[in-house]
Order: sequence, then structure tokens, then C-alpha cells
Amino acid sequence: MVNLQTTFAGLQLSSPLILSSSGLTRSIDRTKALVEAGAGAVILKSLFEEQILMHTGHLLAHNEYPEAADYIASYTRVEAVDEYLELLRRAKAELSVPVIASINCSGLESWTDFAQKLKEAGADALEVNIMRLETSRFYDPVAGEELYLEIVRRLRAVGLPLIIKLSRHHTALPTLVDKLRAAGATAVTLFNRSYQLDIDLEREQIVGGDVFSHAGDFAETLRFTGLIRGVVPGIELAASTGIYGWQELAKILLAGADVAQICTAVYKHGPSAIKDALTGLGRWMMDHGYQSVDEFRGRLSYASVADPSLFERLQFMKYYSGRTQS
Ligand SMILES: Cc1cc2nc3c(=O)[nH]c(=O)nc-3n(C[C@H](O)[C@H](O)[C@H](O)COP(=O)(O)O)c2cc1C
Repeated sequence: MVNLQTTFAGLQLSSPLILSSSGLTRSIDRTKALVEAGAGAVILKSLFEEQILMHTGHLLAHNEYPEAADYIASYTRVEAVDEYLELLRRAKAELSVPVIASINCSGLESWTDFAQKLKEAGADALEVNIMRLETSRFYDPVAGEELYLEIVRRLRAVGLPLIIKLSRHHTALPTLVDKLRAAGATAVTLFNRSYQLDIDLEREQIVGGDVFSHAGDFAETLRFTGLIRGVVPGIELAASTGIYGWQELAKILLAGADVAQICTAVYKHGPSAIKDALTGLGRWMMDHGYQSVDEFRGRLSYASVADPSLFERLQFMKYYSGRTQS
């Protein structure tokens, strides 16, 4: 028998596979089934600051009385916050695994109070999904990262284990992750998936793209998990994007992830995605003589492999040189 237990962000988990933040957690009954399938923890869907503001803006656009603006803004926000806190309380009361709350944050002040409320409602940890797209020609990426660090410093004061979920679009991820660690982050999640856009050729219009990730997306999760595990000590890693089954789970643990998060595969296959991934991982561990996850975690990180340049290779040198010769 293998032991899949692990720890993450100071929490004791029954398995290293956790349910990513998404609408899947909107229903506690559905979430319960995913916990029964083996999820070691669940991350609730995010409360999106952007959604609330958009909603408020929409209401305001249709309101003839400017003096009602503050009331509507405050009413909308309070409702969303209260619903979220209620979801968290129910999740804590009815689920047998740690419950991680999630907020989407692109600014500062408005979220600090909310994090305190999440703690009071029983959250075991807090994942903060920081997503920004800079569109100015004059944006300074190094100065811009200060916002991420300030968010961490302020939320850290709340005292919950803090997990920062990042997009892959940063100039130098190891540097940013190290700064986040120094600012007080417990862990980072690599990576968030952004809203995709597409073009409808018939109507010649911008439309929404596919919400789900694709098999090829895993390669970047693998590269950066292994690289950051190897070069940034003192921070825990959750891998997200492209974890579909036991193979990706085993690979990402070998690369050095503390836990993996699963989302698209659960939308597509339900609880069996989690059950099958854990059963397959257990079988692979037995075949390879491992009894616990700690025995092989990070064996193939950037710091552990004989040739770390494998993680650095970006160009298809052989492929291109072969093509030009033929
Ligand atoms: C329908 C859907 C809803 C999502 N909602 C959230 C969310 O509320 N907060 C968040 O941080 N990530 C959200 N995500 C991103 C997932 O948590 C996850 O990081 C991403 O889908 C990549 O993992 P995957 O390849 O397992 O799908 C959502 C993803 C999907 C497909």
C-alpha cells in the first residue's frame, strides 16, 4: 500500500491532488463527490473583483439617479461578499478536507477586509489570483511587480497561509516568485488560465475562445515547476494547467510540485478524473518502489537533474539545423 498523504501550505492533505478554483465548487453536493473521489483539498471559486465592478457599472449605466451610485455599488458588493462567505461556511461545515478560499485581485485596499472575513468564516488558506494585462507602451515591468508584493504584504497580515496564483506571462518568473516569498507568500500556483479570445471569421468579430486547457499546455507547467523548484528555495508550489491524469500528476511531482490542481479534466469527466489519477499514481509508485510522495518529489527538478540545461532549452536547434541541411 502506498501513502498519498502530504502537506501543503501548513495543511495536512490526504492526497496531493486538489480541486482548482472554478465554478465546480458552486454546488457543495458536487464538491462532496469530488472529495469522496480523493481530492486532498478544495479551492472555492474566486470572488472576482472585476465581476463585481462590471456588474456595478452595468447597473449604473442604466440608472438615472447619480446619487444612487454609492448605494448600488455598496449593495452589489455586500451581496456578493455575503453569498461567498455563506458558501465558505457551508463548505467548511460539510467537507472533510481543507477548504481554501480564493479571491481575484487586481487592486489593493478593497480586498484586505474581505480576507479577514474569509478567515473568520473558517478558510484554511487563501489563494489570491492576481491577473493583470498591461496595455500601456510605457509600463515598467519591474516597478509593476511592486503591486504584487504590496498585495502579499497587506494580505499576509491577516495570518492565513497565502498562495499566489500567477499567470505564465512574466518576464522573469524565478525572480518574481522569490520576491513573493520574501514578501510573505507561503506558496505559488503555476499557472492560472486566462480568458481566451478568438475571431469569428463569418461575422468578423472578436468572440470568446475555449475556456478549457489543452494537452499541450502542460509542458509549460512542467518546465516552470521544475525550474522554480530548483532555483527558489523556501516556497511551496502548486501546479495548475494541464493536469488531466496520473501521468501528469506523477510528472509534476517528480518535477517538484508540492501539490497539483485539477480543473478541466473534472469538468469533462467528473469525479472519476480524480479517482483514476490517484489510482494510477498509486500503481506507478508501487511499480517504481515508492511508498510515499516525499520519496520521489523533486527528483527531476532543475536542481536535481544531471543536465539542467534541458529546462533552459527553448529553441528547436536540432530540428531547424536538420531542416536547413536537407
Ligand atoms: C470554467 C472555469 C472556471 C474557472 N474559474 C476560476 C476561478 O474562479 N478562479 C481561479 O483562480 N481560476 C479559475 N479557473 C482556472 C482553473 O482554476 C485552472 O487554473 C485552469 O483551468 C487550468 O487548469 P486545468 O488545465 O486543470 O483546467 C477556471 C477555469 C475554468 C475552466
